Amino acid sequence: MTTSTANTQALTLRYGQQSVPAAGPWSSTIEGLLAHRSVRKYKPTPLESGTLETLIAAAQSASTSSNLQCWSVVNVTDPAIRSELAKIASGQKHIEQCPLFLVWLCDLSRNRRLGEAHDIELTSLELTESFLVGVVDAALAAQNAVVAAESLGLSTVYIGALRNDAERVAQLLKLPQGAFAVFGLCIGYADTETEVKPRLPQPAVLFENHYSTPNEHVLRNGYDETLGEFSRRHEMAHDTWSARVIDRTQKKAAVGGRAQLKSILERLGFPLR
Ligand SMILES: Cc1cc2nc3c(=O)[nH]c(=O)nc-3n(C[C@H](O)[C@H](O)[C@H](O)COP(=O)(O)O)c2cc1C
Repeated sequence: MTTSTANTQALTLRYGQQSVPAAGPWSSTIEGLLAHRSVRKYKPTPLESGTLETLIAAAQSASTSSNLQCWSVVNVTDPAIRSELAKIASGQKHIEQCPLFLVWLCDLSRNRRLGEAHDIELTSLELTESFLVGVVDAALAAQNAVVAAESLGLSTVYIGALRNDAERVAQLLKLPQGAFAVFGLCIGYADTETEVKPRLPQPAVLFENHYSTPNEHVLRNGYDETLGEFSRRHEMAHDTWSARVIDRTQKKAAVGGRAQLKSILERLGFPLR
């Protein structure tokens, strides 16, 4: 296969036949990014020694707002804690099964302790902006780890469902005030075949100069068809993306305990002023 055929094939898998963008410059990193898919079943095979440290080095290489480094990560090795975390995440078995399970934290507590060591109150840490900085930092770091893991032939899945009960997670991991588990991440060797899940066509997410939506419904209908075919192949509950979005966002109850996050965050040490 020529390189340009391989590029077009990767783009076709990512967008479906209907909306393949033109292939541009290419690299093995881009090839890896386009091949991403979440995996929810893992072999018990342990990871090569040093993998954790390499993934964390990749994570720490991500940009971080003002170099404040407002994130930390907990490697959960205790099966009893994993089992409790799986319960919080509505019984997602892969949390117990995967060889490496990392919980990524928005962590303002370290810098707060630095302030305390200097006897200075760092008042901006109370702001919603600081919480957002920590969450963005954690997400960028985790995604670097995901890209690194996938480049090593490992698979991953994020676990946002830990936020079903953020206070219980904080208790289980003995988090200090000012640290919040943004999501978990399963890492390991896939024990299942998976397919690249198509995304919205580029014109639905990419604008020039001004936000514009005149053809949004056409793009959405096309994507519903593409993702509908994917869902039917994988016997997923919803036929279309629209049905999935509506089901997930129509009622606050669909996000469970996460609906109370604002008051929970306040109790975890984020006043969000
Ligand atoms: C922050 C975040 C939280 C997620 N939480 C979960 C989760 O709790 N359980 C799960 O099975 N997948 C979870 N996912 C995976 C998404 O469902 C998945 O990325 C999406 O359906 C696209 O599929 P793909 O990753 O295979 O391309 C999460 C993804 C992100 C980015």
